[in-house]
Amino acid sequence: MVSIPIALEGQRHEVIVGAGASSEAPALAAGRDRVAILADRRVAALHGPLIDGASTLEVDAGEPLKSMDGLAQVLDFCAAAGLSRGSLLVAYGGGTVGDLGGLAASLFKRGLDVLQVPTTLLAQVDASVGGKTAINLPAGKNLAGSFHQPAGVLCDTALLATLSDAEFSSGLGEVIKTSIIGGEAALGQTEELMGSLIERDPRALTAVVEACVRVKAQVVVSDPEERGPRRALNLGHTFAHAIESAAGYGAVPHGVAVGVGLGLAARAAEATCGAPSELTERTVLLLERAGLPSSLGALRGVYGLEERLTPAALRAGLAHDKKGAVGAPEFVLARGAGDVIMGQPLDEDLLAELLA
Ligand SMILES: NC(=O)c1ccc[n+]([C@@H]2O[C@H](COP(=O)([O-])OP(=O)(O)OC[C@H]3O[C@@H](n4cnc5c(N)ncnc54)[C@H](O)[C@@H]3O)[C@@H](O)[C@H]2O)c1
Ligand SMILES: [Zn+2]
Repeated sequence: MVSIPIALEGQRHEVIVGAGASSEAPALAAGRDRVAILADRRVAALHGPLIDGASTLEVDAGEPLKSMDGLAQVLDFCAAAGLSRGSLLVAYGGGTVGDLGGLAASLFKRGLDVLQVPTTLLAQVDASVGGKTAINLPAGKNLAGSFHQPAGVLCDTALLATLSDAEFSSGLGEVIKTSIIGGEAALGQTEELMGSLIERDPRALTAVVEACVRVKAQVVVSDPEERGPRRALNLGHTFAHAIESAAGYGAVPHGVAVGVGLGLAARAAEATCGAPSELTERTVLLLERAGLPSSLGALRGVYGLEERLTPAALRAGLAHDKKGAVGAPEFVLARGAGDVIMGQPLDEDLLAELLA
């Protein structure tokens, strides 16, 4: 197991990565007056209770959980469990449980410590690190949230054995994104280990989750509240959000949309900022090896979404992306491995070609 320290705003916590990392939870909870667990019902059934004797609220994971009702339920649970500001709330599940648990912890009694125990690949490499929390509003995804750094993160790669193939591949979309942002060493390692990753080889998983956490931690420490450099983590995401919105939320898993977004961003970078075609080829090959579509054509075919993912619907989805001004979407593009530029506009002709 490896431990990655994250020092932010006068606080320091560790992300522990490796098979068996979740068995550290009881030790991290020791010394707290009370401990309560927000658990994904499926994860608790598959992998057991995490900390014996702790009050536990089991919930059904998924976007509907990240709602006002879900938040109220968790806050009421914190109150019923008698938590004080010195207590610990543990979020044990995928990114939806982590986002909700983190937000509830940031609100209960004006701030309670949260221990993140992410159980999906996506949550281990992305959602659990960096302190962003959120719920959805009827007006859109992640519109109400906070920054609340966790007291610790336990990325137990052994828990990933029970993930469905679809959820696992979706997580690989974010792995590939983070590897490109990380630079040649991270990208090269992901290329080398992709075959073992899809076999869910524990050593490969631990090496790659560790590398992704290191990349994300470095970016987050440079910009904890996403005022600038942290937006690099949105590589491929302007296209991905347009795909998710045109398809209807939930129709295409987030990481799958990110994968197609990476393919499109690579082509855009080649056309506008001198990125080598080799980077596009490496990106496409990695996506294919991960079982992910790398183009809109492939995505439409796999999901039968030809009627929804039209160029016009995608263009409208881009216009609504919250990261850019209405009508003038901005893109994060990679000129090379580890060389990411932000705030790039793309001209309408190129957009039309990419969205065709
Ligand atoms: N806060 C951030 O910085 C950040 C970053 C990226 C994504 N997110 C958020 O993360 C969410 C997506 O996370 P997710 O993909 O983990 O979704 P999720 O929590 O819905 O989990 C996906 C599915 O996997 C199941 N599952 C979880 N762990 C499992 C395991 N070990 N074995 C078997 N099944 C398991 C869940 O029950 C669920 O059905 C989105 O809401 C997104 O907005 C947040
Ligand atoms: Zn993402």
